[in-house]
Amino acid sequence: MGNELDWGRRYLMVEPDHFRVDYAINPFMDRDDQPDPARTRAQWDALVAAIVAVGGTVETLPQRSDAPDMVYAMNLGLALESASGPVVELSHMRFGQRRMETGDAEAWFRQRGARVFRTGAGGVGAHFEAGDAFAWRGELVVGFGPRTDPLALKHLAADLDVSVHGFRTSHPGMYHLDLAFCPLDSERAIVCPAAFEPETAERLLALVPDPLVITEAEALTFCANSIVVGRTVVMPSCPSRVRSVLEAWGFEIVIVEVGEFLKGGGAVRCLTNPLDVTLGRDLVTGRGEVWLS
Ligand code: ARG
Repeated sequence: MGNELDWGRRYLMVEPDHFRVDYAINPFMDRDDQPDPARTRAQWDALVAAIVAVGGTVETLPQRSDAPDMVYAMNLGLALESASGPVVELSHMRFGQRRMETGDAEAWFRQRGARVFRTGAGGVGAHFEAGDAFAWRGELVVGFGPRTDPLALKHLAADLDVSVHGFRTSHPGMYHLDLAFCPLDSERAIVCPAAFEPETAERLLALVPDPLVITEAEALTFCANSIVVGRTVVMPSCPSRVRSVLEAWGFEIVIVEVGEFLKGGGAVRCLTNPLDVTLGRDLVTGRGEVWLS
């Protein structure tokens, strides 16, 4: 059994006061299927309560009224803790409808003394959405293609002084890596090979000592879009086969109903942004390397 993740106890979430489906930028969004505001609020509150009940904490940011997707806080940026204080690589969203969200996130992170980087700065314009990025085993595992540009991975490597493993995602329903990949502990992660071309999937699997391989149908329940607090996995749903593997590995499973948020194409991971991620060392900028698959 691997060691527990040393992050995943402190989250940033966005109050869901203006969650709507105003446009369709992923295959799950349908403007004729609007979230119900009361159910939205109840589900969000239940997710906060579930995180707190298993030992996590939640900080919140108000939702901009002109940013209906801002509830998916994971996409605001990739936050890291280092000995010299917090660091954030803000997202530069693929679609204009979401681009204003990161201005509010920047103010929030700056108020907390974070060093702020942005992949789209300096006119370079590389798109990066943090739902594609995980810090794991001292490196970054980053999806690219539908949302994140390959060039953004160079910015991440240079800005954060970290090695970056990039994996092109090629499944329309798994447009962010966090729909197909979920680190569980220091050795284990959920991986959905169907999100990638076969050689790419193989390279990702080679990076994971003990993968929980899930099928496309399992991934489309959003079960990889989960968060891990110690040995508890907080999930939007869990197919029975996945449950038996997780339980055999000693994980506790907590299911939180987030059906209203599935209407925007996101679940538990998308709604939460971990603030306590470390790379297990201090960060010095300007030294990372990139491998693309
Ligand atoms: N409607 C949002 C979008 O398409 C959903 C974001 C889901 N977030 C995630 N981390 N996968 O951008």
